[in-house]
Amino acid sequence: MTQHIATRFRRTKRTPALRALVQERVLAPSDLIWPMFVTDGDATRTPIPSMPGVERLSVDLIVEQARAARDLGIPAICLFPYTDPALKTQGCEEAWSPDNLSNRATRAIKDAVPEVAVMTDVALDPYNINGHDGIVRDGVIVNDESVEALVKMALAQAEAGADILGPSDMMDGRIGAMRTALEDEGYQDTTILSYAAKYASAFYGPFRDAVGASGALTGDKKTYQMNPANADEALRLVARDLDEGADMVMVKPGQPYLDICRAVKDAFGAPTFAYQVSGEYAMIMAAGQQGWVDEDAVMMESMMAFKRAGCDGVLTYFAPRVAALLNG
Ligand code: PBG
Repeated sequence: MTQHIATRFRRTKRTPALRALVQERVLAPSDLIWPMFVTDGDATRTPIPSMPGVERLSVDLIVEQARAARDLGIPAICLFPYTDPALKTQGCEEAWSPDNLSNRATRAIKDAVPEVAVMTDVALDPYNINGHDGIVRDGVIVNDESVEALVKMALAQAEAGADILGPSDMMDGRIGAMRTALEDEGYQDTTILSYAAKYASAFYGPFRDAVGASGALTGDKKTYQMNPANADEALRLVARDLDEGADMVMVKPGQPYLDICRAVKDAFGAPTFAYQVSGEYAMIMAAGQQGWVDEDAVMMESMMAFKRAGCDGVLTYFAPRVAALLNG
């Protein structure tokens, strides 16, 4: 007698049409935020050895990349400045200079390609002589004084025209302080994408090369970034940041923390983003360059993993390649 199998999962896998029909998640260029590194100069590009394919670009070239983002259908880009070491101080004053590199780049982009959303990084590390995200006094990262500095920084970025502020510093109370200041100063519509669940991770190594913070950093960031062993705390941090006025939240790094992405999306239903960080990018590139994995295929699979985990979007250095593939 022939055996009858009621549920055959292979039935809906038989053809591309059937597979497409039952596909649960869809990835689009509109899911992407493209992080880029800005440097001084004109028509200047400097490769970042630990991030093959990524370069630091002068403001004129960043504007060109913003145009490329628009043409690819990528809605937002995210700026990280490579700050001249001579401008790094104990007090991090360059962070809120209206004419610092990040603010100049923001103005230039909003001038040339206003339809692309500009996200900026709110943290003191590019401007800090010791590479920390907050102000250091006698070896301690002081919370409340750092928040005051971060608020000044956020206001300068909003004034320059940033659409999305990305506080990545992990100081307590910064979202509430920024939100109050933005409301008071006439920037009611500036959005905040909080790096809410940001772990003290070794996956940030190549990024610190890219922004020139590797040499500067003394010690580690464990007194403010999260312990990779913690998951419940991530939910409390997200709840806190949403309560203080964040519009969107982020989990960072991305792929090693997909469980956190899913938990955050399920618990709050808020716009949730993952940051596929520099070390994740570097690992895929390194294995791809060795011929050990199919770079494009692994890249696209990693994107789909974020969507499956509940993310609304992904910050990734692969953004232009992913968008180009999706656009055919
Ligand atoms: C620092 C900041 C970091 C990243 C984004 N903002 C590094 C850090 O916390 O040391 C990492 C991004 C990446 O690795 O791609 N404010």
